[in-house]
Amino acid sequence: MDILITGSVAYDYLMTFPGLFKEQILSERLEKISLSFLVDSMSRQRGGIAPNIAYGLALLGERPRVMATVGEDFGEYRQWLENAGVDTALMQVIPGIYTASFFATTDQLNAQIASFYPGAMAHAAEQSLREVKPRPDLVVVSPNDPLAMKNFAAECRELKIPYLYDPSQQVLRLEGAELARDMEGVRFLFVNDYEFGLISKKTGLDLEHMLKHMDVLVITCGADGSTVYANGREYNIPIVPEVCIVDPTGVGDAFRSGFLAGYARGFGWELCGQMGALAATYCLEQKGTQNHSYTRAEFVARFRQHFDDKGALDALVRE
Ligand SMILES: Nc1ncnc2c1ncn2[C@@H]1O[C@H](COP(=O)(O)OP(=O)(O)OP(=O)(O)O)[C@@H](O)[C@H]1O
Ligand SMILES: [Mg+2]
Repeated sequence: MDILITGSVAYDYLMTFPGLFKEQILSERLEKISLSFLVDSMSRQRGGIAPNIAYGLALLGERPRVMATVGEDFGEYRQWLENAGVDTALMQVIPGIYTASFFATTDQLNAQIASFYPGAMAHAAEQSLREVKPRPDLVVVSPNDPLAMKNFAAECRELKIPYLYDPSQQVLRLEGAELARDMEGVRFLFVNDYEFGLISKKTGLDLEHMLKHMDVLVITCGADGSTVYANGREYNIPIVPEVCIVDPTGVGDAFRSGFLAGYARGFGWELCGQMGALAATYCLEQKGTQNHSYTRAEFVARFRQHFDDKGALDALVRE
């Protein structure tokens, strides 16, 4: 199955401050605030929603395409994705600017001060699905430049390409009418439970009404697992227990990748959800969003310790 993923592509620069922000911030001097934190670690991680989802799909044997705008500093990231099995031909370099960058400093209490520079992502709306050959079987519309998200959803409807709408963090800045329009008739809507509540409030649609407007709704609830609503049925998917939680960043993206890898192979909804749960747990066990890895045989063996695939996953091992 040809899955094309749109969404942010970013480098995450993560620093740790070996003290407490609250001890450095003088509330009576806020107007003249000028602080520089001497940090004791920094790492640059490959991030962004679209490559995170694509990376997980590639681990499970798919060859997804990512469509996005990136900066001149993207070279080694492209190489990494290509080596992982992601098709980067539609990742277009915008001359003279940087790839979107997230700079975050975290203190000893996990308080965080961060900035996000959109960089090349601000050009995402210059790309169009109309020019993409061949037509993909499924498009993922995930958080990106707001105009690009709106355009890609509209192009999917116009070109009659089934799409997965994944508004995630952007739910905060999308209006109810916009959300309702871009959710209408989608193949999939993926949200966490908090985002579901927010969408419901903004659009005035409750669960029952929402389900009338789409094929499949997936609501993830962190450590409480997830629920897949499809064909008038409801599948409750438990989590796969982790060995240790190292970093929860990117679990939602990893869940989507596991789910879609099952969908690409034509598996039932419950199995898709269970694959998502296991893919998410692997991500939770490593720092960063693309630093976990497994062979397909390892994935299947671990899967079978928790769920029954009735032999369906044999296909992954045989490849
Ligand atoms: N602590 C956990 N242990 C095991 N699995 C987890 C845990 N937290 C999340 N998961 C898995 O990941 C899925 C998605 O998690 P969650 O609902 O937190 O996504 P999210 O809020 O979109 O995350 P993010 O946006 O931070 O990536 C869950 O349905 C579950 O299967
Ligand atoms: Mg999320």
